Parts: sequence; structure tokens; C-alpha cells
Amino acid sequence: TAAPSPDTASFLRCLAVDIPPQVVYTNASPSYNSVLESSIKNLLFVTPSTPTPVAIIAAADASHVQSAVRCGARHGVRVRPRSGGHDYEGLSYRSLSAVRPFAVVDLAALRAVRVDAGRRTAWVGSGATLGELYYAIANRSARLGFPGGLGPTVGVGGHLSGGGFGLLLRKHGLAADHVLDAVVVDATGTLLDRATMGEDLFWAIRGGGGGSFGVVLSWKLRLVIVPATVTVFTVHRPRNQSATSLLTKWQRVAPTLPPDVFLRIVLQIQDAQFESLYLGTRAGLVATMTRWFPELGVKPEDCIEMTWIESVLYFAFYGTGKPAELLLDRGTKPERYFKAKSDYVTNPIPSHVWERTWSWLLRDGAGLLILDPYGGRMGDVSPSATPFPHRRELYNLQYYGFWFKNGTEEAEKHVGWIRGLHREMEPYVSKNPRGAYVNYRDLDLGVNDDGDGGDGVTGYEKARVWGEAYFKGNFERLAAVKAKVDPHDFFRNEQSIPPLPSSR
Ligand code: FDA
Repeated sequence: TAAPSPDTASFLRCLAVDIPPQVVYTNASPSYNSVLESSIKNLLFVTPSTPTPVAIIAAADASHVQSAVRCGARHGVRVRPRSGGHDYEGLSYRSLSAVRPFAVVDLAALRAVRVDAGRRTAWVGSGATLGELYYAIANRSARLGFPGGLGPTVGVGGHLSGGGFGLLLRKHGLAADHVLDAVVVDATGTLLDRATMGEDLFWAIRGGGGGSFGVVLSWKLRLVIVPATVTVFTVHRPRNQSATSLLTKWQRVAPTLPPDVFLRIVLQIQDAQFESLYLGTRAGLVATMTRWFPELGVKPEDCIEMTWIESVLYFAFYGTGKPAELLLDRGTKPERYFKAKSDYVTNPIPSHVWERTWSWLLRDGAGLLILDPYGGRMGDVSPSATPFPHRRELYNLQYYGFWFKNGTEEAEKHVGWIRGLHREMEPYVSKNPRGAYVNYRDLDLGVNDDGDGGDGVTGYEKARVWGEAYFKGNFERLAAVKAKVDPHDFFRNEQSIPPLPSSR
């Protein structure tokens, strides 16, 4: 049976029966806008013409999520989960369709973190931020950590759903590699855990992208051991001081360094900023760099010893001596416009291409490039172990542009820069398909067709174009899982996984 045609009034009446009114916000609620914007990060999607939800359910309990899904399924109103609201394309709170009503289930209130230091595990609510998670872990034990992303306000729910990586990636792999169990509300509103959802769905939610399979309420994580002392450095090498040759060499060195070292590069204007986290002491880091990458010229005085949680603060806020409580600041207002794209690099890019890139970085509207090395633990994990397939790449390349001035001209300048450079890099990055990271969501790769003309189900062939960029050979298995757990495609957005057609 096809999904019912949307009936917003009945949907809202259904919510009113099952959910306390104080957690349901509609356009008529005075605080609707502030609740909607509470975790929006990208000003691009705070415009009068952006289609917004008919209701925001600020879930305070699992039953609120179950009711929202049941009411939505009954009355044809789709539900988008929102944890931290950091989706690059805003898919957790906006829709491209002006005619299809949708609701948001906001999980920010479901953010408890329970750390079991003895067992080295934690249960964390999807609405927690990475900062809250790291803070809670460090509070319980100075020798435990978690290998997730750098941005402290990023939501756990979306992050784990798309893989998630940060400075511990080379030692410990992805955030999603450390999920032991999860609690999910499926498309029928049923609450499932790992045992009841089965291994296919459990596989899909650990990297298959958020918003396709259900609403994950909480996750059981395996924590990792961190040394008492870690060491960081940030060194700048301008273009006119050998940055191009360092960058060229970095591509071979960074992915093959011992896994205790993570060495990334941020390229901006005419400068290469090398940032490193080492799981050990200053002496160890200097010795490692001297052995493997002497050209970088890292000196003991460049290196700062600290605890792991201090390194989290260091990379989040660029400095030392910041209070750990900064990690608890969720931020309340969107403050910048941004657009990003990503690539995977399989073979080192020749130095003459990097030479050309410097001139791109001087252009009006230029953004920055972030090069995150893989290798280490990543290479030990099979590309099909989780939906995240990019295990054998040298590094992830992110093109990131941000600006503060409103206006189409300004936006076109920055977005145009990103698209232009991305186009120019095509010959030098991964191919067939050209890869991309789902957590750096990019609708330029393609969007699902509306499906409303037919059976309301997303077309598989069209979705393959973007789906195989994110998931390569795992896309078909994701679609097969989708067909099993959500055949009517209730959890749908512009880049959600389509159900695999039965003819395939
Ligand atoms: P949001 O709530 O917007 O959700 C993202 C997607 O997942 C949406 O489709 C949503 O519907 C779905 N979803 C959300 N919660 C769900 C749930 N509980 N169950 C099912 N689906 C759910 N990445 C990285 O790997 N390393 C990094 O260091 C960083 N750093 C970073 C910094 C900043 C400032 C930004 C804006 C982003 C990053 N990211 C990142 C990218 C980040 O991992 C990505 O945007 C995540 O999807 C964000 O998760 P949120 O819960 O915040 O997003």
C-alpha cells in the first residue's frame, strides 16, 4: 500500500492526543522560530522562503518519538530526526519541497551520557553533542577517550549515523566503528535494540547516513584508552617557504606514519597549517617527525604536552588554557553561511597541481582546504564492515567556504569558488565513482526525485548517482536494508537511501 496523502491537521490532532502540548511547537507557537533555529548552523537555510516543518516535536521521552512516527505514518507527514542540526545541507530541519509537509523530531533534550569507566563503555543520547560526550568521558577517567570529530557542537546522532572521524582516526578508526548497541524507533514506531533490530539494520545505522532508517535515540559506545600525556603542534609553512613540496610529500608520509600520529593540513590563502596530535610525549613526537618527515622541521618548542581532553579543547578552540566547560556550550544561533564539498585522494596529487591551487586560494571568494590523512587503523577495516567505504584512501580533502554577508551575489561568489575548484580537481581524485563523505553532505551530487507522482517511493537509479559516491559498493546493501525496514519510504529526505526495487 502507498503512503497516505498528507493531512497536516489530522497529524497535529494525533500528536495532541499522544504527546504533551509543551513539547510540540507549530507555526502558531510563539517560540517556534527560536526552537527551529536553536541548533541551525548554516544561515543559508534561515530564509523566509525555506520550507519549514509543520511541527517540531522536542522529544523528552522515547514515547514522544514513537508517537510522532506513528502519527506521521498514519497521516502522511514525514518525520526528520534532528540531533545537533549540523547537517551541511540542513536536511534535518528543512525540505526542498514547498508542498510536502514534514515534521522535525528534535532530540536535543535526549542527551544523557552514562559512562561506565570500568567496562570502558558509555550510553549516549543522540541529542548530546560531541563536546558533551568528551567532557563526560574525561570527567570519569583521564585515561579514556572517544574517536569522534573535532567540532564540539556536532550532534552525536548525525555524526555516528554518517561515520564520524577526528584526530584519533588513524589509531582507532571511525566513531561508528565503536558502536556496540543502539536504541532505534523504526518506521512503525517500534522501539528496537541491537538484538531486536538484527544485524542488517545495525550495520546500516553505523555510517549509512542519517534520516533513512529510523530515529536512533541512543548509542552504546566502546571507549578507547588514551595515554596520560598527548602532544600537539600547529606549525605554519607559507607558500614561499617550501609549502608546496611539504604538501606534496605529506601525501605519502601522513597516511603511513605510525598510527599514534595524526598530521593534518589546513590550506588557506598562501599558507599551509600543519596540525598534529600525537598519543605520547613531546620527545616521542619530535623523534617520529625527525625520522619520517624531517623536512617539516618540527622542533621541541613547537610541541605542547597536555591531556587528551585538553587536546580536544585545543583543536576545537585553537589555544591552550581554555576551561573544559566550553565543551558544554551548544551554541544557540546560526552565525555563518557555509558550503562544503569533499573528495578522496587515492594517489598523491602532483606538485604542479598544488602550485595551481595556490592561485585559487587567492581568488575573491576563496575558502579553505582541509586534508585529513587516513591509513593506520582505517586500512585494517574492510570497506564493507560498515557502510562507510573509504577505508583505503590516502586522505579526505574538504573544500570549505564560509561567509557572513547576506545576499545572492556573495553566496554565488563563495559557492562558485568551491564548485570551480572541485571541478578542476576531478582528474586527481578518486574515480568511478568519485567519492565523497556523507557527513559533508552535498546536494550538488544529486537529489532524490520527489516520488509523489507515483508510489511515493524514491527512485533507486537516480539515487545511485549520489549514493555510490558516498557508499560505493555498500549502496545496494543499504537499499536492501531500507526495503526491509522501511518499504514505504517513510524516512525520506533529498538524499535518503531508497528501498531496493524488488526487480533487482
Ligand atoms: P543533524 O541533526 O543536522 O543531522 C544530520 C542528518 O542525520 C540529518 O539527515 C538528520 O535527519 C539525521 N539524523 C540526525 N539525528 C539522527 C538520529 N538520531 N537518528 C537518525 N538520523 C538522524 N564530521 C566529521 O566526521 N568530523 C568532524 O570533525 C566534523 N566537524 C564538524 C564541524 C562543524 C562545525 C560542522 C557543521 C560539521 C562537522 N562535521 C564533522 C560533520 C558532521 O559530522 C555532520 O554534519 C553530522 O551529520 C552532524 O550531526 P548532527 O546530529 O549535528 O546533525
